[in-house]
Amino acid sequence: MQSRSDVEAILAYHEATKHSVESVRRGGHMLDFTNMPRPWKLYNVPLPEVPLPQQLGRTGVSVGDALLGDSSPVVGDAGLTLSDLASVLQLSAGVTKRLRAGNGYMYFRAAACTGALYHIELYIVSGPLSDLPAGVYQYGANDNTLRRVRDGDFRTVAMQAAGLDSAPAAIVVYTSTFWRNSWKYGSRTYRHAFWDCGTVLAHSLAAARANGVKADLVTIYADAPVNDLIDVDGEIEASVALLPLGEGPDVPSVDTPARLDIPVVLLSRNPIDYPLIRDAHEATTLDSPAPVGSVSREGGEGSAPGGDLVPLGEGAPLTRTLEDVILQRGSSRRFAREPIQLSALAAMLDAAGCPVGPDGADAAEVFNDLYVIANAVEGVEQGIYRYQPSVRALEPVVVSETRALSEHLDLDQPLGGDAAADLYFIADMPAVLDRWGARGYRTAHLDASTRAGRVYLAAYALGLGATGLTFYDDEVVEALGAAQGSAVTFLIAVGVPWRNRRTTE
Ligand SMILES: Cc1cc2nc3c(=O)[nH]c(=O)nc-3n(C[C@H](O)[C@H](O)[C@H](O)COP(=O)(O)O)c2cc1C
Repeated sequence: MQSRSDVEAILAYHEATKHSVESVRRGGHMLDFTNMPRPWKLYNVPLPEVPLPQQLGRTGVSVGDALLGDSSPVVGDAGLTLSDLASVLQLSAGVTKRLRAGNGYMYFRAAACTGALYHIELYIVSGPLSDLPAGVYQYGANDNTLRRVRDGDFRTVAMQAAGLDSAPAAIVVYTSTFWRNSWKYGSRTYRHAFWDCGTVLAHSLAAARANGVKADLVTIYADAPVNDLIDVDGEIEASVALLPLGEGPDVPSVDTPARLDIPVVLLSRNPIDYPLIRDAHEATTLDSPAPVGSVSREGGEGSAPGGDLVPLGEGAPLTRTLEDVILQRGSSRRFAREPIQLSALAAMLDAAGCPVGPDGADAAEVFNDLYVIANAVEGVEQGIYRYQPSVRALEPVVVSETRALSEHLDLDQPLGGDAAADLYFIADMPAVLDRWGARGYRTAHLDASTRAGRVYLAAYALGLGATGLTFYDDEVVEALGAAQGSAVTFLIAVGVPWRNRRTTE
């Protein structure tokens, strides 16, 4: 059960891991490449394997159809198959390209991830599918293979942990292996666990929908039974989200099984412990799926928009197929200082709105507000705007020159200043924590990152570029004029990628 002290603990974590000009100047730690964690989870004993098709199935569904509209799947749900599952896994966490690095290769995965360190693992708790026996499986992205961790139908364990009434065909469990990211980012990795899980989740949700499979994000569940079920310790590696897929047959009732302690290959010679990560995770851990807190949210996106609103108009169509977009995507390393159309921004903001929020929350249960720094959007004066989804319009906060400010706010990286627009997700954290307890910290970050993951896909579908960025926490909140105590939960910059610039030089 979470308490006031858990809320204080997660707020203390957030405070301690803020970036400021001062903290960045003080510097982080040096990267020790001799102690760099491996990018995959490898078991030290052979487990039964189910290789997935090397050739990705093509649904041909457009990004627009996979992202927009109501939450029903694009095609009828004909029952989850191994091929659907393979598509969801490959498009979420599969290897999509490799680049030479030193004597070996650097492998890039389907979804964007801080530092390309890929600390998010996927497991499947499956009932019997037509072509997959019931079991608990780990997805090995290194060889695109499922490994069976447990034999049998254990969906009921995950369902009880999440308080689900109806049986899904399978449940995907997302974990973070913190050291694989904290090697570079130290204690701030606890935020990255949710940022990087959200970009993966956005792909999973879109791929599920494109394959005609119902999928809903679950962030509120009892942690221990889920961790035990997939055989992770909840400390080095811990579950961070669940995604029930499809509808399945009735579930047999089983007890939560004990850990198996299957030996795994060490991540690196000397993993470093970050107590702040452990403390933050403990504070946000639940022993039951019941949400806590009862204070309802005031203000936020529900508040009446003011000022001269800029209506978005119709969003540009997102016609490229989901598979093409994901297989060809890559974060922009440089933007050309060129404008984007308002209809393109409209399409990206539409994509940022999920039809169903985390844990079945409806649109009124808003975890994050969305602010736009418009550096170069045709028909929109340079300035800071708050997005008002209820009227699909931008509400001006400050109309002024923004390039220098937006370059500064993202840790003085040119990307934010060169982008056509910077989209900031902002959670009114005191209100979220009042409503949801310390677990709300996770949910708010997952809500933002999943929505940002959808913005990435929309940007690529439009032939534009996008990248996640990190930021000076307090300076952003102040510049945007957000409520005291608000937290920045994701920053994504979008614009014309340098290689595609229209001008020739
Ligand atoms: C939440 C998040 C924050 C990121 N922050 C930065 C950043 O501050 N600077 C940067 O150059 N890239 C940033 N990136 C981009 C990653 O470095 C990039 O996703 C990773 O190298 C994988 O490459 P890919 O996205 O092209 O597949 C960020 C990505 C994410 C998801």
